[in-house]
Amino acid sequence: MSLLLLVCLDSHLHTPMYFFLANLSIVDMTSSTVTLHKIILTFLTGDNKMTYLACLAQSYMFGSLSGHGLFILTAMGYDRYVAICRPLNYNIIMNYKICLLLVSFCWIFGFIQVVPYVLLISKISCYSSNVIDHFCCDLVPFMAIACSDITILESVTVIQGMIIYIFIPLLLTFTSYIFIIRTIMKIRSSIGRRKAFYTCSSHLTVILLLYMTLILQYAIPANGLSSKKIFSLINTAMVPILNPLIYSLKNKDVKTAFIRKIRKWKLEIFTAT
Ligand SMILES: *[C@@H]1O[C@H](CO)[C@@H](O)[C@H](O)[C@H]1NC(C)=O
Repeated sequence: MSLLLLVCLDSHLHTPMYFFLANLSIVDMTSSTVTLHKIILTFLTGDNKMTYLACLAQSYMFGSLSGHGLFILTAMGYDRYVAICRPLNYNIIMNYKICLLLVSFCWIFGFIQVVPYVLLISKISCYSSNVIDHFCCDLVPFMAIACSDITILESVTVIQGMIIYIFIPLLLTFTSYIFIIRTIMKIRSSIGRRKAFYTCSSHLTVILLLYMTLILQYAIPANGLSSKKIFSLINTAMVPILNPLIYSLKNKDVKTAFIRKIRKWKLEIFTAT
């Protein structure tokens, strides 16, 4: 929330990269709110009951927002590609219209891509139990307790997960980085090389972190559900906290903007009193 406020208030941070980052902060905030509020309530009150509709709504929101976060990170990869490989045309290529288009696409597609499997979950007609072995309502625990035929749901999930969550974002990000690395290698001076690498290091760190936990989570077979849960917890609770931290602590612009704002507030309080 601090990062979001900072980006909105400080005009020096009104660049495409920070607009994407502010949008990513919104995703991180909402996606952790969707799952963590229930986990915290369960810890505090011991009440771990949830209605079927609430559970369905949670899995819909969670799926949409996670997908959306992934797409925004992919768009940020493209932004870094333009910043490093086309620095002279950066402001022309990443103009406000393009940014708005990319971000809106991420939001809209994020919320559409989960509709098919939430519809398929709602079609499950019989459950063998009403206990979900997970800390939030997700697809896997739903499928684990279904006793009607879920072969269509299973294949849709696998195809969707592979193509929309892993293959397309990873391929696009990878392509951006191949061009970025090629450009960085061509830079003669080592200071220039370091500077160019510096502008995409935060994004690269976040991407690596996210895909590491995602791949660990999905590479573990379904019967290793308890370790799956740990990686899923890292993904839902840790990654959203780490994203803004990585971006703000590693980043000079954010740090100076922060100090500038604090100084200004101090001055305002001082002159007011
Ligand atoms: C999200 O991105 C769009 C497009 O760049 C931008 O107009 C909007 O202000 C961003 N949202 C925030 C909260 O910064």
